[in-house]
Amino acid sequence: MLGEECENAVRLALRAGYRLIDTAFAYRNEEAVGRSLKDAGIPRDELFISSKFNKESHSVDGVQRAYDDSLRRLGLDYLDMFVCHWPVPAQDQYTEAWKGLVRLLQQGRVKAIGVSNFKPAHLAKIIDATGVVPDVNQIQLSPDLARVQPRALHEDLGILTQSWSPIGRESGLREDPTVVGIAARHNRTPAQVLLRWHVQQDLVPIPQASDPVWLSENISIFDFALSTTQMQALNRLDRGESAARDSDSPENGH
Ligand SMILES: NC(=O)c1ccc[n+]([C@@H]2O[C@H](COP(=O)([O-])OP(=O)(O)OC[C@H]3O[C@@H](n4cnc5c(N)ncnc54)[C@H](OP(=O)(O)O)[C@@H]3O)[C@@H](O)[C@H]2O)c1
Repeated sequence: MLGEECENAVRLALRAGYRLIDTAFAYRNEEAVGRSLKDAGIPRDELFISSKFNKESHSVDGVQRAYDDSLRRLGLDYLDMFVCHWPVPAQDQYTEAWKGLVRLLQQGRVKAIGVSNFKPAHLAKIIDATGVVPDVNQIQLSPDLARVQPRALHEDLGILTQSWSPIGRESGLREDPTVVGIAARHNRTPAQVLLRWHVQQDLVPIPQASDPVWLSENISIFDFALSTTQMQALNRLDRGESAARDSDSPENGH
């Protein structure tokens, strides 16, 4: 979402009670997010604002500059989390990027540091190099891309998993008969069932919605629960690790 569309969506989201906003240099909407945050007048310590940087900033100094640039565009003096957007292994500089994030953390300039689209081998490399474990790994994750192995590793290491495309973006997941059937049982929508599947196992979904009805629908998921059988039925939709976007492929990442 860009410009005014983004501003409106963030304004509505904050009014609806959302407090975590996920943006990125790559989304070209940090200024728009910043304007909505300023207008909303919500105390800064009630918000969790996260942004990400691209491969051009994969160096210790590059991350410092990227951080200052994101802060300026957002009109903030700190971020709750700064994230390496993709490892881009073909460039092989993501360990330097991680060192840059560690430095920001050690300087006390950012509250948490994370990565996104990092596979177990990428995580091993940055942890070996620095001894510092990311707070978060944001990965493509929904019932049909359940990412069982990476999630188990994250749990072992104490990394929080954030789910991007949590309701499947344009994949047709919201029309899946299993999802639709469970939604009907609860008198909820498919998107609400999918989001509930995430929060019920301590995953942090970051859905995108511009429609005001969808925005309020997506946050109204804390007053019902999926049964064990329903969770298992959703788990059976998993298409396996190979169906997820592969961050080792040169086509993926920026
Ligand atoms: N780290 C990464 O590499 C990465 C990659 C992709 C995305 N992300 C992050 O993840 C966020 C979400 O991912 P995403 O946008 O790809 O996928 P998503 O949140 O799974 O799906 C978004 C789509 O679903 C629609 N939608 C939202 N709520 C709905 C509802 N209640 N009922 C029906 N349709 C609904 C949205 O429509 P409208 O937009 O038209 O309202 C949009 O087309 C992004 O905003 C971004 O912050 C991160």
